[in-house]
Amino acid sequence: MSTDGVTPLPEGPVSFARDILPIFADRCVSCHRPGGIADLSGIDLDLRADRAFSSLVNQPSVQRPDLTLVVPDNADASLLYLKVASGNPPVGARMPLIAAPLSAAQIELIRKWINEGAGDN
Ligand code: HEC
Repeated sequence: MSTDGVTPLPEGPVSFARDILPIFADRCVSCHRPGGIADLSGIDLDLRADRAFSSLVNQPSVQRPDLTLVVPDNADASLLYLKVASGNPPVGARMPLIAAPLSAAQIELIRKWINEGAGDN
């Protein structure tokens, strides 16, 4: 299955370590780490490899504590997904901030990872 016509998705379940963490490392960690722009703005979401899972899954948004960053099995209720997939997320701006959006294939990987249960796999 291919979502952008260029990059085939890997077969089988999405792996958090193999498929998702490299996206964060490439596009998110520069701001989402201690001392990064997000951290300095009061958003303590740490997306480094050893912190990302526990920072996201079943964790409330700092800005909108009624929203959850990752709701296992429900991407459409997960602020992480809404902020990378939509130009008009429920709070703040599309991520990555002030940069090109993720590719359609990367957005689909995040959606699929969440809807497969958001495992630390
Ligand atoms: C240039 C710096 C920058 C980059 C790069 C960036 N972010 Fe952010 N992020 C921010 C800032 C600043 C905020 C707070 C304002 C907002 O939500 O728009 C934020 C907020 C968030 C929030 C909401 C956190 C909360 O608790 O409310 C999520 C989720 C998020 N970012 C995910 C990501 C992801 C995933 C990526 C990479 C695809 C990414 N960000 C890349 C700066 C950045």
